Amino acid sequence: MIISILGGTGDQGPGMAMRWAKAGIDVIIGSRQQEKAQGVAAELNQVLGQDLIKGMANPEAAAAADVVALTVPFSAHQATIESVQEHLGGKVFIDVCVPLDPDNPRKMQPPAAGSATEEAQALLGDTVKVVAAFQNVSASELRELEHDIDCDVLICGNDRGARQTVMDLVKQMGLHPVDAGLAYNANVIESLTALLIGLNIRNKVKGSGVRITGLPG
Ligand SMILES: NC(=O)c1ccc[n+]([C@@H]2O[C@H](COP(=O)([O-])OP(=O)(O)OC[C@H]3O[C@@H](n4cnc5c(N)ncnc54)[C@H](OP(=O)(O)O)[C@@H]3O)[C@@H](O)[C@H]2O)c1
Repeated sequence: MIISILGGTGDQGPGMAMRWAKAGIDVIIGSRQQEKAQGVAAELNQVLGQDLIKGMANPEAAAAADVVALTVPFSAHQATIESVQEHLGGKVFIDVCVPLDPDNPRKMQPPAAGSATEEAQALLGDTVKVVAAFQNVSASELRELEHDIDCDVLICGNDRGARQTVMDLVKQMGLHPVDAGLAYNANVIESLTALLIGLNIRNKVKGSGVRITGLPG
């Protein structure tokens, strides 16, 4: 299993990369600039104390992976997807992006498709299995590798098998996934991020999260 994280040079990607690498999964950091990706990969390997993560330009990273995750600002969502689309056929695509209002990150500003996830699925077509995940887990929590993260990871997407693949990958990171059903629920999951940002600001914390209660397991 090889996972590439496009835009993994920013805030959200590195914690995901290090947690997967620690679990024995091959991870590639993607960037618009190969050197930047390689530099961030080297920094993360230094934190891990092992050479586990590689860096590549986004298209090469997408081509080399079995599963591709996207962690870019929503303003770059469509352009980044289009720049790697030819390399995604048949793959699971994890969309982490949240369409926040650029003037107010406490507010969601959904695209016409309803959510970033549904936009990605519409852009990529049915051969790519788009799954929403990690929108409600903060970058700072993900980067604290020895720290248990006290929240659920809500997963949704139209392909049940792809949801299961991502649920397994979330478990391998030491987090708790919840199957939240079809892609139309991504609007709710992405909206929760805006709510959590507001809670973080009001309570002067960095990592509020969500926990679904009453479920078996
Ligand atoms: N940060 C969080 O706590 C958090 C939590 C949940 C969800 N999210 C969501 O995850 C996504 C990534 O968040 P982040 O905080 O990691 O973002 P970020 O640090 O601002 O950006 C991530 C990477 O995206 C690329 N990028 C930035 N501007 C771009 C542009 N105009 N065109 C193409 N690529 C661009 C850059 O990579 P290169 O320069 O290397 O190409 C950058 O390092 C966002 O949609 C955010 O809403 C974030």
